[in-house]
Amino acid sequence: MERAKAAEEMVKLREEIDRHNYLYYVQARPEIADYDFDRLLEKLVALEKLYPDLVTPDSPSQRVGGQISREFSSVQHREPMLSLSNTYSLGDVADFYSRVRKLLHEEGIEKQEMVAELKFDGVAVGLVYRDGLLVQGATRGDGVRGDDITVNLRTISTIPLRIEASLAEKHQGPDREIEVRGEVFMRKDDFDSLNEGRPEEDRFANPRNATAGTLKLQDSAEVARRRMIFVAYFLKGIADESTRHLDRLRLLEKLGFYTGGHYRLCSELKDIEQFIGDWDEKRHALPFETDGVVLKLDDVTLWDRLGATSKSPRWAIAYKYPAQQAKTELLGVVFQVGRLGTITPVAELKPVKLAGSTVSRSTLHNFDEIDRLGVRLHDRVVIEKSGEVIPKIIRVALEERSLSTEPIVVPERCPSCRTPLVKPEGEVSWYCPNEEECPAQIRGRVLHFASRNAMDIQSLGVALVDQLVAIGLVRDPGDLYALQVPQLEGLERMGTKSAVNLVRALDESRSRSYERLLYALGIRHVGQATARELARAYPRFAMLREAGEEELSSVPDIGPVVARSIIDYFVRPSTPALITKLQEAGLSFMAAEPEEPVNRNFEGMRVVFTGELERYARSKASGLVMARGGMVTNSVSRTTSLVVAGNDAGSKLEKALKLGVKVVSEDEFESML
Ligand code: IVH
Repeated sequence: MERAKAAEEMVKLREEIDRHNYLYYVQARPEIADYDFDRLLEKLVALEKLYPDLVTPDSPSQRVGGQISREFSSVQHREPMLSLSNTYSLGDVADFYSRVRKLLHEEGIEKQEMVAELKFDGVAVGLVYRDGLLVQGATRGDGVRGDDITVNLRTISTIPLRIEASLAEKHQGPDREIEVRGEVFMRKDDFDSLNEGRPEEDRFANPRNATAGTLKLQDSAEVARRRMIFVAYFLKGIADESTRHLDRLRLLEKLGFYTGGHYRLCSELKDIEQFIGDWDEKRHALPFETDGVVLKLDDVTLWDRLGATSKSPRWAIAYKYPAQQAKTELLGVVFQVGRLGTITPVAELKPVKLAGSTVSRSTLHNFDEIDRLGVRLHDRVVIEKSGEVIPKIIRVALEERSLSTEPIVVPERCPSCRTPLVKPEGEVSWYCPNEEECPAQIRGRVLHFASRNAMDIQSLGVALVDQLVAIGLVRDPGDLYALQVPQLEGLERMGTKSAVNLVRALDESRSRSYERLLYALGIRHVGQATARELARAYPRFAMLREAGEEELSSVPDIGPVVARSIIDYFVRPSTPALITKLQEAGLSFMAAEPEEPVNRNFEGMRVVFTGELERYARSKASGLVMARGGMVTNSVSRTTSLVVAGNDAGSKLEKALKLGVKVVSEDEFESML
């Protein structure tokens, strides 16, 4: 397609895609199927590949992410990002209301209208639009300076990358800027599936933690996959005739932002109380977490007059709902054995309703927690659901303790294989040390291997794995690939059709990527992100197997604990046999795009990177060195062979110069490669 025509087509596609994005994410009223949407995006991406200079920063293709950024730089907020004073009591809300009334009265104003909004439980961010284009997105940080996380925020579909020119023109301030503040959060179901795919030790406690963690990720493609949402509740520094917060919320919607829509104008205290009461129960039906109600004085012109304390404005307050509690009976405790042998006591509770769901189980974490609570079997216990999604036992209702309670006893032997349990020094958990033979651990490892974010073998459910392990057909994930239809079709609840399906699913899984395989192996502390880093640094499995502890610790994001656990994994007696089986099954033990056939230019060298490189992410640069026989370390010493100094290199560069270690620039480094 010729250039002018392509440019025209690209403008059209961008507009169309933006419109469908808006319909889908903000209005929740999609007009086209996901498939057709993907086609539009593909078309645009194809044109952008042909004419890279025609890619605009607001192009929807830029949301997809994929840039690996370096450390986030910090930026100063245009105006401090204040927080709100919080209260848990309706009495305090009434006090706030009359305090504002008094202040207004002193100003000669009698009318007092408040906007009540939901308080979204996420992470506050500020977005700056200049001439209608999103130019900066930052976290609150300390209120004065925050982290510039624009690359990650761009991946969020409810954040417009561009505000329609005429609207931007009309509303931006004299500095040609509009600032929108709001909260980023994750839906409860997206949070659940994110956690499901993570090893137990890597799970997030609640959607807010998961959101905060995700916003700080270095890999924005991963951020995009986690599908976060931005809700706007605040518009700053704008040229606007409207002097009401309510109108600004509506304006935000007109500008293409999602506000959640659940706000109400209250002209009396009792309206506020009613709003709070209405949402106490109703909020549990929302697909995301809310933890209270925010009240803001509607008349924006009075905000300045009322002013702020150092931390929060006087014209607003947050009411937080108390954590929901319920009382029920502890019927029993079961002891689960995880894939890494950890014993987790789980409370079995008499089913009880709490915050919109029925609770019948709750983890007790470990035996220290049981001691701390002083809980006994058949006790009445108070359970609570606060920020955490999984309810917790917070205390024993001692006042109701009967004579028939019994102590909870730490089992001496593994409930699965009867091996005596051990408690490593300094740890709070008990373990089953029978790594190789314990059926529960084998089962856990096989299920982890097959899980969605690992090899994604869908037809392999819990019941089937239990049978396969029990009859000894499967002793490690490698045995899965030897399974044949005749062996399977006779199993409980399996027919020929299910057996054929399973064998087919196993076959398909052979083509999963190397990084998924690394994650699927279930090495302790190696979650998805770590597996990705490892695959980057060691594009061939043999390299990883041979890596020493110090070298591993020098891979970005891999600390000594992870390095140790990788070494431990490889010395386990069963590892070589498992790896051989998986290799024979044809799984990928190599990154998809093998790094170009490489030289050994860094053979035996110890390299240190310092400062920011312009063309390489740290992990990439480290991988290149390691692929060429070198080793990357973190600190400069006399044994360092080379220091690669990027922008703003600091103390490491100084030290290198002092010690007389060879220093090269990014350009020189590149030519050495
Ligand atoms: S207004 C200067 N409105 O809760 C006032 N904040 O506990 C700026 N939050 O810092 C905040 N929902 O991170 C506002 N509807 C809402 C909110 C909200 C959640 C967060 C925000 C704030 C914190 C205060």
